[in-house]
Amino acid sequence: MTFTFLRCTCTAFFISGLLQRELPPYFQPWMDIAGRVSELISEHSLRSSVHELPLLETDSLQSHRELRLAHLALSIITMGYVWQEGEADLVKVLPQNLAIPFWEVSQKLGLPPILTHADGVLANWRKTDPDGSMDIENLELLFSLPGGKSVRGFFLVTLLVELAAVPGLKAIPEAIGGVYDGDVSVVNKALDVISQALDSMKEALKLMHDYVDPSIFYGVMRIFLSGWKDNPSMPDGLVYEGVQAEPMEFSGGSAAQSSLLHCLDELLGIKHEEKSGAFLTRMRGYMPPFHKRFIEHISRSPSLRDFVLKQGDESLTEAFEGCVDRLVAFRNFHINVVSRFITIPAARARQLRANGPESGKEPDLVGKAPTALEERGTGGSGIMSFLKEVRNQTKNVLKTPSTTKNGNDP
Ligand code: HEM
Ligand SMILES: *[C@@H]1O[C@H](CO)[C@@H](O)[C@H](O)[C@H]1NC(C)=O
Repeated sequence: MTFTFLRCTCTAFFISGLLQRELPPYFQPWMDIAGRVSELISEHSLRSSVHELPLLETDSLQSHRELRLAHLALSIITMGYVWQEGEADLVKVLPQNLAIPFWEVSQKLGLPPILTHADGVLANWRKTDPDGSMDIENLELLFSLPGGKSVRGFFLVTLLVELAAVPGLKAIPEAIGGVYDGDVSVVNKALDVISQALDSMKEALKLMHDYVDPSIFYGVMRIFLSGWKDNPSMPDGLVYEGVQAEPMEFSGGSAAQSSLLHCLDELLGIKHEEKSGAFLTRMRGYMPPFHKRFIEHISRSPSLRDFVLKQGDESLTEAFEGCVDRLVAFRNFHINVVSRFITIPAARARQLRANGPESGKEPDLVGKAPTALEERGTGGSGIMSFLKEVRNQTKNVLKTPSTTKNGNDP
């Protein structure tokens, strides 16, 4: 039954470019503010604009696309509202005109009430020329955050990584089908397609260097992606006024919430260490529910890894190892990206702060750079050790003894 589901599942739904850029006119107050978040933040007037918002009823929002667009708009406003003044003047409460509709829309979608990867990346784009290609020069964002062109680059390059992955995602049901049928050549072919997809994903990720300025990313943008869970600057989380009196905690937006690597890890039988694994599993709660279900279906399918080990077929083993190597290479390149966009600017910002008055030279870096997040990911993880542990576990997939959680043993 699992298998039928996988065969029928087309992967086109993973990237949900909205086609629709408008909500019914009733919701114009949200769209007006969401479209001007950067401008309102630079005038320090986003919070007061939010206070003037009418409290809108969400009952009339029905279609998935409308709800996703509403979630995107409200999440952009929320990130701006919370972080308008950086870490300097934080709020403890999200006002009810924003909190109640955001909560309702989130409940309908099964998404948390915060900006997720599914918002900022998967839903936040359109083609400039509708008949043109999915080339970055023909793409634009629906909504942005402070950081100018780097914000565009960051979201769109991440989208290109998702696009590059599509053939690989489509090959996953093929691979599983091949394991069911005991068909080595089908599995072999599917693994080659996945390897190629991983190569293209890495190529796409390289564009981050061309389209995003590290000091803008670190000093201006990053705080707006940050959440209020395990965040020392918001230790209690955030009260969603009119929803619940107690504060709630949610992690910030991160591509750890993308289903891509979760799918590949499950397919290849990669098991993560306890803490890293717990973080990654928690991130599945930040995905649209059908992404999460797709990953869980893969994890319940018969183990590809055990199949490869049992067959002892040379070319099959090679194809499997080729996939693993590419996944390690992708994760290694990602570690480089993180070092360039977080570790290095963080060290420079620390140095500039220590130098006192000298710091005026690079205002972006010392401006709103979130000191509480220096060593942490926006999702709240201790970055480098986490990423290296995840990479190491990927490398070791054929060396560690089989755990049958992924298998179909009786
Ligand atoms: C400037 C660009 C990027 C930076 C600075 C960055 C930073 C980070 C950080 C700090 C983490 C740790 C977890 C967290 O804090 O949420 C992380 C995790 C992760 N990121 Fe990125 N990231 C970037 C781009 C991307 C892109 C484009 C992708 C691909 C879609 C990606 C995929 C992942 C994945 C899959 C994880 C989870 C760890 C893993 O499975 O290896 N990242 N990233
Ligand atoms: C990962 O493996 C490398 C090389 O084998 C090792 O030096 C490093 O300590 C490991 N890191 C973690 C976090 O497990």
